[in-house]
Amino acid sequence: MKKIIECMEAVIKDAFTASGYDEKFARVNVSNRPDLCEYQCNGAMAAAKTYKKAPIMIANDVVGKIKESNIFSQAEAVNPGFINMKLNPEFLTSYLNDMQADENLSVEKAESPKTIIIDYGGPNVAKPLHVGHLRSAIIGESLKRMGRFLGHRVIGDVHLGDWGLQMGLIITELKKRSPELVYFDQTYEGEYPAEAPFTVSELEEIYPTASGRSKEDEAYKNEALEATLELQQGRRGYRALWKHIMEVSVADLKKNYEKLHVDFDLWKGEADADPYIPDMVAYLKDKGYAHLDQGALVVDVKEESDAKEIPPCMILKSDGASLYNTTDLATIVQRMEDYHPDEMIYVVDKRQELHFIQVFRCAKKAKLTEDDTQLAFVGFGTMNGKDGKPFKTREGGVMRLERLISEINEEMYKKIVENRSVKGDDAKKTAEMVGLSAIKYGDLSNQASKDYVFDVERFTSFEGNTGPYILYTIVRIKSILERYREEGKDPEAGKMLPAANASEKALMLELSRFNSVIAPAFEEKAPHKICSYIYDLANAFNSFYHETKILSSEDEVQKTSWIRLLVLARDVLETCIDLLGFEAPERM
Ligand code: ARG
Repeated sequence: MKKIIECMEAVIKDAFTASGYDEKFARVNVSNRPDLCEYQCNGAMAAAKTYKKAPIMIANDVVGKIKESNIFSQAEAVNPGFINMKLNPEFLTSYLNDMQADENLSVEKAESPKTIIIDYGGPNVAKPLHVGHLRSAIIGESLKRMGRFLGHRVIGDVHLGDWGLQMGLIITELKKRSPELVYFDQTYEGEYPAEAPFTVSELEEIYPTASGRSKEDEAYKNEALEATLELQQGRRGYRALWKHIMEVSVADLKKNYEKLHVDFDLWKGEADADPYIPDMVAYLKDKGYAHLDQGALVVDVKEESDAKEIPPCMILKSDGASLYNTTDLATIVQRMEDYHPDEMIYVVDKRQELHFIQVFRCAKKAKLTEDDTQLAFVGFGTMNGKDGKPFKTREGGVMRLERLISEINEEMYKKIVENRSVKGDDAKKTAEMVGLSAIKYGDLSNQASKDYVFDVERFTSFEGNTGPYILYTIVRIKSILERYREEGKDPEAGKMLPAANASEKALMLELSRFNSVIAPAFEEKAPHKICSYIYDLANAFNSFYHETKILSSEDEVQKTSWIRLLVLARDVLETCIDLLGFEAPERM
């Protein structure tokens, strides 16, 4: 469906041309003076320079021609040359009725759908998930859903950190503790034992211990580096151990992501890229893209226009070991082979920006992708506590994701039991749903690149710009629809009538903007635009609700019309929160 602004622009363009002016001046914007009008066109001001005429004269000419259109109930020229417009309520209503009948709620699918890989989550195997991984998961999941809604083929890849030093550290520590395990037998050739010799909680204790020791003990660290290299070179026992670490760790990660309603299509990781490294390295050398610099293999990636120096992209260290760059480049090669994507989007902490500049430039320069393959970095800021420092537990430790979720759920549970009608098990489930909205909306309503303060009190509030407020609004609509159903009537039947009052029209105007929000939010990789849209929409709905006696209306035709409006508001709100990655309960 055409966007409502495009419908208006079509009329305004005709009016400009009919008055002898270029149609390029016919841009329409949402009014910044809602007290005066709903939409405005400021083109007469720009046209004045071209035609050497007073803007108000041009505006008057154009308005004269618009008068014949039925899209507007009001169009007037205002000094110094604004064209102020109000939509004809009849037109607005027919637009919304069409929207309601449209299976994608008026949002057009992409004309040429793209294959897009989103690299998000990025947890490190054997290390517990912490809140830093939360943002990547939340933002990436939302982008994935937005892309799909617009008709693209989107593949989500968790891209595990499963190949680095943490693996060597765990191997080293385990070897100290249980040297008798078969993994450490140099001559070991057999299959690996069926049972892993550790649980996830043990793993999570082993890693920090090993990491701590390596910082104090140089020999220990060298052992871990050596173990990492041997693992990467294929030492059999270490590979077997690695598989166990993976099994135990991934099962736990899956459980955690499920709680967050975050779902990956691919559970690939750095290790999967490893087999692509030798050929890629040979190619980079043969084609002359890479050269040796003090023993290390590097690709120069600086460009003349750089404001600050971008160091070369290191491919191999002087001892031949691969690096984070190497696995990311090899992953690009792998993805091109497997999926031939049009775009790869990386949702990663913005402190890794330099790494991605180097990797992207190197990939482009060495033609590891097609020329038109897009590589995008969505760098997000830090989630801070109220003290402005990275979010910590009350005791000052690293806040683990599981703990954060359960703290929020407890808080929500308390509020729900105190204030609301749901009880018992229902209250628990409801608290989980609302809790998730608090976390996700709290995150997504901020521009991704900005740091933000995770404020439990504010995020879990039912008032203000929060997830619970949005859910509360949806539940309010659902309960009205439910009562209507109890009257024996079908909320899915009938049509909307033109707005009966100002708050109803305001709600209708918000709804009609839905299709102009989603595509730009996806293009700009900006879920926060969906948040600010639904906040406005929820406010518009609540004002309408407070001024209108919906169910007690005696006028059945009017009542049906309002119910239809509520159905549309519910559908738009529920679609939006689904794109943000959470859902609303039936009651709360
Ligand atoms: N595992 C990395 C980390 O925790 C994030 C991975 C991001 N994705 C990527 N392709 N490098 O920092």
